[in-house]
Amino acid sequence: MLDKTKRDWWKSAVFYQIYPKSFQDTNGDGVGDLRGIIGRLDYLEKLGVDGIWLSPVYASPHKDNGYDISDYRAIHPLFGTMADMDELLAEANRRGLTIIMDLVLNHSSDQHPWFLEAKSGRDNPYHDYYIWRDGTPDCPPNDMKAVFGGSAWTYVPELGQYYFNQFSPWQPDLNWENPTLRRELYDMIRFWVDKGVGGFRLDAIDKLGKDPDRGASGNCPRLHEYMRELRREAFREDTLVTVGEAWGTGVEEAKQYANSDGSELSMIFQFEHTFLDQVDKWGKIPLPLVKLKRCYEQWQHGLAGRGWNSLFLNNHDLPRIVSRWGDDGTYRMESAKMLAMMCHGMQGTPYIYQGEELGMTNIRLSIEAYDDLEIKNHFQEELAKGRTPEEIMPSIYTWGRDNARTPMQWTGGDWAGFSTVKPWLPVNPNYMEINVESALADPDSVFYFYQKLIALRKRYPVFRDGSFTLLDPEDGSCCAYTRDTAGEHLLIVCNFTAEEQPEICPEAFRGAEVLLCNYRDAAGPLRPYEARMLYQKA
Ligand code: GLC
Ligand code: CA
Repeated sequence: MLDKTKRDWWKSAVFYQIYPKSFQDTNGDGVGDLRGIIGRLDYLEKLGVDGIWLSPVYASPHKDNGYDISDYRAIHPLFGTMADMDELLAEANRRGLTIIMDLVLNHSSDQHPWFLEAKSGRDNPYHDYYIWRDGTPDCPPNDMKAVFGGSAWTYVPELGQYYFNQFSPWQPDLNWENPTLRRELYDMIRFWVDKGVGGFRLDAIDKLGKDPDRGASGNCPRLHEYMRELRREAFREDTLVTVGEAWGTGVEEAKQYANSDGSELSMIFQFEHTFLDQVDKWGKIPLPLVKLKRCYEQWQHGLAGRGWNSLFLNNHDLPRIVSRWGDDGTYRMESAKMLAMMCHGMQGTPYIYQGEELGMTNIRLSIEAYDDLEIKNHFQEELAKGRTPEEIMPSIYTWGRDNARTPMQWTGGDWAGFSTVKPWLPVNPNYMEINVESALADPDSVFYFYQKLIALRKRYPVFRDGSFTLLDPEDGSCCAYTRDTAGEHLLIVCNFTAEEQPEICPEAFRGAEVLLCNYRDAAGPLRPYEARMLYQKA
């Protein structure tokens, strides 16, 4: 087990993200809950992860599944009670599983008492907790757009003012320039730390520093001042894990956020590698593997010795990776394992999103069956532009966030063992084939491959410390790289195609030990989606 009293313990750790609504229901209401998570801690222990990133479980109207918080210090009754949360923390900590809570500091719900007060009058002390501009109903301050569609400004007629909302009107942006607000947030964070929470995943952190008058939605100068203040005032313990989610952050900016001097956050959670097969949010192009490799290389070199990255292929906002970069038909198992190895071999802290360790796939639903506000808004906006449902649906099948949010597939039984009743979002029809029960019974399953990757990371320091060298950068079929320290050498070779490819094995690795492979042996040309990991002591 990792020594979690050490300052940088999370550099050797692997985390598992739970989307509570879809993980495990225990009270038969079709929605996952905290008791469901408690009941599955054995499973996570078996997988071997060191901690859990828990998506929001706070009180919330759930316009955006909890990313719209109406009380930061309360548990949503859907998920259980504060006593359940305390029990989860105790049970998890007892097993050495650190719980990282999701923290939405950029905005609150429009039902948060602060916002209800704020919009009751310009003189109300809470008014300044949010961002307001004067205006007339037909003329918003500028044409900034909200992430989930429509304007980033919402009019409140009683005040004759607009408030700023970067995501949706139900998620008004908090005014970080206000020191009293910041103090309230820090106190709230201490409330959770005192309860035994081991860290936080900070939602949309790049959007905290904004300048709406200039049309800037994030990454503004005061941002890093806020990060340092957060670290000083709220994240006081050196061992807390703080992970900043930042969609719009490049390597240079990341060096500041995740600076190894510890002055801001532990690590960054950035998305550059996820943009390459997109023309815009809803348009798909084939994955340009050469660009992907260059992108990884740039991050691996850029942060080496300077900062720390997260490694991930999936979360609750992204489509399932095996459907996206792999093959969710014939080579589902092979490609799921290959992608896992490609990701887990690099420097950084890996995050596994629930069901990824089974090779869960995307889903296709009728538009009525989707829940996500982003999907629904997109559909309506495209309809309004004159497109037909037949034209719009493929983009939702490809990118819709509900692809990742269908219930966890535990068994081949009713509702995939997730619930005893019809769940809030349909179960993927492939649950009879893809589920935990059958994965645990099959020594060759994707699950056991992830288990091995996690164990290897614990055993060999080269995963944490090794320098990264990309091999054959211009090869558009395979991704191969080495990781090297003075004492250890690691080679990772991944075939991204369904065709055989020539063997890749630098001289120095001839005869090296095979640590892991997704076929029975690791010799000769690379078979479809083959992944090999070789190890050599210096
Ligand atoms: C983050 C979350 C996403 C949410 C958004 C607004 O990107 O991951 O699910 O909708 O922030 O809070
Ligand atoms: Ca429930």
